[in-house]
Amino acid sequence: MEKKGYKNGINRREFLQTGAKLTAAGMLAGFGTTRLFGAVNSSQMGTTVEQITLNNGAKMPILGFGTLYLNGPVGEKCVADAISLGYRLIDTATVYNNEEAVGVGIKQSGIDRKELFVTSKVWVEDSGYEKAKKAFDTSLNKLGLDYLDLYLIHRPRGDVKGSWKAMEELYKEGRIKAIGVSNFTPAQINDLMKGSSVKPAVNQIETHAFFQQPGDREFLKENNIQMEAWSPLAQGRNGLFTNETLAEIGKKYNKTNAQVSLRWHYQRGIVAIPRTSQTAHMKENLNVFDFELSESDMKTIAKLDLNTTQFPEWE
Ligand SMILES: NC(=O)c1ccc[n+]([C@@H]2O[C@H](COP(=O)([O-])OP(=O)(O)OC[C@H]3O[C@@H](n4cnc5c(N)ncnc54)[C@H](OP(=O)(O)O)[C@@H]3O)[C@@H](O)[C@H]2O)c1
Repeated sequence: MEKKGYKNGINRREFLQTGAKLTAAGMLAGFGTTRLFGAVNSSQMGTTVEQITLNNGAKMPILGFGTLYLNGPVGEKCVADAISLGYRLIDTATVYNNEEAVGVGIKQSGIDRKELFVTSKVWVEDSGYEKAKKAFDTSLNKLGLDYLDLYLIHRPRGDVKGSWKAMEELYKEGRIKAIGVSNFTPAQINDLMKGSSVKPAVNQIETHAFFQQPGDREFLKENNIQMEAWSPLAQGRNGLFTNETLAEIGKKYNKTNAQVSLRWHYQRGIVAIPRTSQTAHMKENLNVFDFELSESDMKTIAKLDLNTTQFPEWE
């Protein structure tokens, strides 16, 4: 029988040794170990995913599950399956129109709410103090939860400052554990921080091998704001899943292009939330903690940057 908290019969010693190797990997990659590898999220089933510590002390899994386009019964099942495999961070948004399905999936999983990290986002049309407060209540009701771990301003449009004021209040009331933004440039973050009492904990932006955003990454690091990757696999655009450079690297470790990409995010200290409707891919995407990309692999992947969005239709 599996021991509580350790996967696949891995004992505590092996588990800690793995942790030590990962910590060394983090040091090699140049990240603060306390921040990146501070705590471990133990799950009774499935893989364990490490947690990072946000600038307000909240813990966030470094790898999670995206839910864009996962609606209705499919969404319910995917979320329940993902949680049972070990995902603890679930990313949704008002505009995905699937918060109810995500909520059902969470309930079906049977996992204690406290073990999960649930993110939602306030959409542009709900921007502003009153509307954002109402949108937050609606999201919570749809999800069937009484707090969110992370609530983000989805896009830097509309009455962003009004939304932020509402979110600061909800945060101070303890109804949100951390607040942040998405798709904000450094200038937009600086503007938001002027006159506000809570600094964003996270900026969720597009980033993957073809759009690496080095400037934003540097800014976020300097300001202790966690960078989170949306479309961490670029939705497979520009041939990511068949890219020869990634495949060559993956061959050395017996890993797929998706796994190389997710490991690359991890070694850069970026939270990634890949989405998949397939159980095999859910497992594959979690299986990225038993190998390490070399410095030369990281440099090779850096050269894949095209420095442009793969989603011009969302600009
Ligand atoms: N804040 C924002 O503005 C924003 C914008 C976009 C996305 N997001 C969030 O970020 C999450 C992830 O982004 P995304 O959904 O756009 O794209 P993504 O995670 O980069 O890619 C998803 C696609 O990759 C495929 N896939 C996943 N794992 C695979 C694997 N191991 N091998 C082969 N194919 C694989 C999936 O197909 P299968 O289902 O067939 O596996 C799906 O078509 C979203 O779900 C959402 O939560 C946020």
